[in-house]
Amino acid sequence: MKIGILGTGMVGRALARRLVELDHGVMVGARSKASESLAKLGELDGIETGSFADAAAFGELLINATGGIHSIDAIASCEPSDLAGKTLLDVANLLELRPTGPPVSLASVDNCLGVQIQKTFPDSKVVKSLNTMNCNVMVDPSLVEGDHVVFVSGDDSAAKGAVVGLLRGFGWRDEQINDLGGIETAAGPEMIMPLWLSVMFARGGFDAGPFNFAVNSG
Ligand SMILES: NC(=O)c1ccc[n+]([C@@H]2O[C@H](COP(=O)([O-])OP(=O)(O)OC[C@H]3O[C@@H](n4cnc5c(N)ncnc54)[C@H](OP(=O)(O)O)[C@@H]3O)[C@@H](O)[C@H]2O)c1
Repeated sequence: MKIGILGTGMVGRALARRLVELDHGVMVGARSKASESLAKLGELDGIETGSFADAAAFGELLINATGGIHSIDAIASCEPSDLAGKTLLDVANLLELRPTGPPVSLASVDNCLGVQIQKTFPDSKVVKSLNTMNCNVMVDPSLVEGDHVVFVSGDDSAAKGAVVGLLRGFGWRDEQINDLGGIETAAGPEMIMPLWLSVMFARGGFDAGPFNFAVNSG
């Protein structure tokens, strides 16, 4: 499948590398096709680069891997016709960087990025997933032992099916994939971020090894 990734950071790069390994066609987009941020990607075999709009035009399925506070602007820079009818996997978090201390999550029930993206771009089929873990775990769940989970939220069942197909390709087993329901349920996984950040810093900060959350039952 041809996949357009909006975002050149560690998440966009990790997803792009893994998707190319899995034989998908991949274009990664930045604010400008001349952006310096694309240099690291241009060196990777098989990954095409361009602007956010180029990536949206390229992809049959799109991934939002931009900084959450910039995601609406990034997606808005794409042609509406290149978003219409397409699955848009949103892996972003609404994090605000402060001069000191860890990033602060702005997510709440009334400020859910997945919901905002779906409302702003009603012709796209937004699916929230993979935002609750480090990008290395996103694309290789075997890094963490056990039935740790990935959440999926979205209004369109075919779009969720397409995302679940990608998750299976990354190595996620069906018992790990938790379909929470409509896009409004993305608020929960987005609001887990403060806890995720606390766990990460308690485990050594940015050097913390891979970890993830599990849902256990009796
Ligand atoms: N790091 C993780 O492991 C992890 C895990 C789960 C979720 N997330 C979420 O995944 C997303 C990507 O994270 P990341 O660390 O890979 O990258 P990031 O640094 O959060 O975002 C990089 C992208 O944001 C774009 N951007 C920056 N300022 C912008 C603006 N003013 N307008 C439009 N676009 C702008 C950049 O464009 P240019 O390329 O043009 O500079 C770049 O493509 C974030 O929302 C993050 O919270 C991250």
